[in-house]
Amino acid sequence: MATGIIGTGSFLPPTIIDNNELAKLVKTNDEWIREHTGIAQRHIATDETTSFMATEASLAAIENAGIDPKEIDLIVLATLSPERATPSMSCIVQDKIGAVNATCFDLNAACSGFVYALQTADAYITAGMAKTALIIGSETLSKMVDWKDRSTCILFADGAGAAIVTKTERGILSSITHSDGSKGMSLKCKERSTRNFLVKKTEDKHYIQMIGPDIFKFAVRKVPACIDLLLERAGVTKDEVAYYVLHQANARIIASVSKKMEIPLEKFPMNVEHCGNTSSASIPILLDEMNRDGLLHKGDKIVLCGFGGGLTWGAQLIEW
Ligand code: UT7
Repeated sequence: MATGIIGTGSFLPPTIIDNNELAKLVKTNDEWIREHTGIAQRHIATDETTSFMATEASLAAIENAGIDPKEIDLIVLATLSPERATPSMSCIVQDKIGAVNATCFDLNAACSGFVYALQTADAYITAGMAKTALIIGSETLSKMVDWKDRSTCILFADGAGAAIVTKTERGILSSITHSDGSKGMSLKCKERSTRNFLVKKTEDKHYIQMIGPDIFKFAVRKVPACIDLLLERAGVTKDEVAYYVLHQANARIIASVSKKMEIPLEKFPMNVEHCGNTSSASIPILLDEMNRDGLLHKGDKIVLCGFGGGLTWGAQLIEW
């Protein structure tokens, strides 16, 4: 028996902004954005919040899994863009979906959030502390980017993805997470001011700031090494894997990983073209698209791999 995914769901806010519309806000153009990122358009939240989108994605995953929300005894929600500090996004989702028996908490591992959440759920389930978990990645990054900064506003976007995990015959074969706080300032965002009555002056930089090329190089170095280790631990070869579902940060990062690992690009599904970079939500949104399109077959071996702020990275090898 293993911890396996038995249902997926996702939600994208209906408002779509294409590259030409962004070119009206900052000095950029469709050609540059497509060439450097692979993105053509992205979904942007208007009134939708992180918890609202997470709820919609969760309801879809619950329906897909065919379970009763009361069966869920753990909710782990990964986000770096909660609309409030407390109550947590996971507690709000619990209330909205009627998962009255769940223990709920949020975690922040930026773009690696979903693989961290899956690893956490696996640990709870393997330890016998939970039976059925709802894991979610949900982000409203559009509300945190500087819409005057062309290096970030073209990249980040909004959406949510969710999965139901439980003990099944097939599931996680290997799971890894890593962090390197010493490089964390290459991707940063100070969301709240840290003033109190003793501290008068603080610098308010509420927007996401990123040294893009540093994150790019980090991803292309760490992702192949992480996947190699993941497969080695499970005794599975690269060729045996049907799909490599990577965080949809940038199509060029994914292409570089494919080239470096000598794995055909066709094995790296992508939706960054229409979704942009939705951080912790990107892997579950893509997984849900693949699931609903019938791409995932019983027994397929699938690698999930996230990387980003913290810095954090991690991966799972799953037998579907
Ligand atoms: O989600 C996990 C964390 N994030 C990531 O994984 C993102 C990783 N990084 C990236 O995806 C890429 O670094 C970016 C897409 C952010 C930037 O692409 P790049 O090819 O690394 O561009 P660059 O930052 O090296 O900039 C190249 C040039 C610069 O001009 P100069 O200095 O050469 O004259 C930039 O000012 O491109 C310029 N530039 C732009 N030009 C037109 C930067 N952004 C834009 C833009 N439109 N939107």
